[in-house]
Amino acid sequence: MNRNRIEIMHGVNLDQLGRRDPDLYGSLTLTELELRIAGDARELGLETRFFQTNHEGDFVEHLHRMDGLADAILLNPGAWTHYAWAIRDALEIAALPAVEVHLSDVEHREDWRRHSVIRDLCVAYVSGKGPDGYRDALERLRLELVS
Ligand code: DQA
Repeated sequence: MNRNRIEIMHGVNLDQLGRRDPDLYGSLTLTELELRIAGDARELGLETRFFQTNHEGDFVEHLHRMDGLADAILLNPGAWTHYAWAIRDALEIAALPAVEVHLSDVEHREDWRRHSVIRDLCVAYVSGKGPDGYRDALERLRLELVS
């Protein structure tokens, strides 16, 4: 597969996994989660790079830099998902196939979590499946890249 580079982007507070409510987010730290994603990606013939920040502008600028560096984006922007229009604009500028992932089931929590400003830009979204959701997202992106 020629196009196989997936950028995995985590947003605000995802660096605190392991300390956050395990009933919602599981018990893996971000590093452990990333190791698992990298292993799943390898099995699927995909290359991964990882990025996390708590600063919205850094997230935006990272998306600006995707040109030529990644073939697809898997992103969990955390709470920014629900209101950060600048991240939506930057994802549109990146113009790559993207999948939105959430560890928790955002459809069945507070009302404000049901809204996503990026969902219609993404080829798919996965929510409430914990770390397994990332594998689903990788499989979906793989399909996108071979077709
Ligand atoms: C989250 C869901 C968001 O609503 C929340 O703000 C997060 C994590 C998830 O992975 O379930 O920080 O994106």
